Amino acid sequence: MIRSQIIGTGHFLPEKVLTNKDLEQFVDTTDEWIVQRTGIQQRHMANDGEGASDLGAPAALRAIASAGLTPEDIDLILCCTMSPDYLFPSTACLIQSKIGASRAAAMDVNAACSGFLYGLSVANAHIQSGQYKTALVIGSERVTNILNWERRDTAVLFGDGAGAVVLRAAEGDRGILSMFLGADGTQGNLLIREGGGSKYPITPENYASGLRDIIMKGQDLFRRAVVVFGGAVQKALEQNGMTSDDLDVFIPHQANVRIIMAAAERVGLPEEKVYLNINRTANTTSASIPIALDQACAEGRIREGSIVLVASFGAGLTWGSSIIRW
Ligand SMILES: CC(C)(COP(=O)(O)OP(=O)(O)OC[C@H]1O[C@@H](n2cnc3c(N)ncnc32)[C@H](O)[C@@H]1OP(=O)(O)O)[C@@H](O)C(=O)NCCC(=O)NCCS
Repeated sequence: MIRSQIIGTGHFLPEKVLTNKDLEQFVDTTDEWIVQRTGIQQRHMANDGEGASDLGAPAALRAIASAGLTPEDIDLILCCTMSPDYLFPSTACLIQSKIGASRAAAMDVNAACSGFLYGLSVANAHIQSGQYKTALVIGSERVTNILNWERRDTAVLFGDGAGAVVLRAAEGDRGILSMFLGADGTQGNLLIREGGGSKYPITPENYASGLRDIIMKGQDLFRRAVVVFGGAVQKALEQNGMTSDDLDVFIPHQANVRIIMAAAERVGLPEEKVYLNINRTANTTSASIPIALDQACAEGRIREGSIVLVASFGAGLTWGSSIIRW
C-alpha cells in the first residue's frame, strides 16, 4: 500500500518577540490574565512589509533540506493560511517562486486554524491517488498584521510563524495512517473577519465600521471547541483501533492550554504525552501544528516509528485529526 510518509520538517519564527509584559504597554490587559486563561506568555512578530510568504519560504526550504531534497523535487505545494499576502495570487505561488520549486503545482488551502490538517489531507489524497510523489505542505501565518490591537480579546491570542512538512509516496507501514476532517458552517460567526473580501471590500466606511477586525465570541467558541476538538481526538483513536496508550505524542493545535488538556483528558492521555509550545508562540493558526512537529522532532519527542496524533479546530468551524507513524 502506498502511504504518505513525512520525510522532512522545518519551521521559521520571526526574530522579534512580543511578551505579555510588552503587550501590557499598549493593550488593556495583564500578563496574569493571558497566562491564566490561555497559557500564552509570548508571541513572535514579523517585520513591517513581511507577509505570510516571507515566513513560509524559509520554513519550506528547511523542510526540503531536512528531507534531503531540492526545491526542484517538489511536485505539489499547498500553503495553508488565513492571512495570505494577497487575495490572489495564492501565497503558495509566491512561495513557489521564492524557493524556486519550478516543477510544482501550487495552491492555497484555507480552513483557518485547521488549515494544516486540511492541507495534509489534500496532499495525502494526491499522493495516494498516484498523481504526485512529493508534496510540500506549509502552514504560514502573518496574523499580527490583521489584528486590531484595541480589541484585547483577540489581540493577545495570536502570533506569526510558519512550519512545513515534505510528504513522499512510500511503501510500508510508516506515514499517515488516518485522516478525519469536519466542518460546521452554521457556526461561522463564532470567529470571523468580514472585511477585505468581496462582500465588504476595503472602503473607508467599511474600515471605520470595524469590518477589518477579527470578531470572536470567545466563550461560545471555547465551548464548541472542547466538543469538536475532543471529538476529533477520539475519532482518530477509533479509526485506528487505538487507545491513548498506543500514542507516543499528541501534537495539538495550540490555541488554548485549557482546551488542549480537556481533549487529552477525554481520551485519558497523560500530560507528558502532550506537546505544548503555546507559551512561546501563542496561536499561529494553521502554522501551529507544523511548527510543533518540527520542534518535537528536534527535541527527540518524535523519532522514527513514533505514533503521533495531530488534531485541530478553527474558524469555520472546522476541525480534523490524523494519526501518523513517523
Ligand atoms: C478568549 C478566552 C481566553 C477568554 O476567556 P474567558 O474566560 O472566556 O473570558 P471572557 O470572554 O468571559 O471574559 C472575562 C473577562 O475578561 C475580560 N477580558 C477579555 N479579554 C481580556 C484581555 N485580553 N485581558 C484582560 N481582560 C480581558 C473581559 O472583558 C471580561 O471582563 P468582564 O468580566 O469585566 O466583562 C476564551 O474564551 C477562549 O480561549 N476562547 C476560545 C478562543 C480560541 O481558541 N480562539 C482561536 C480558535 S482557533
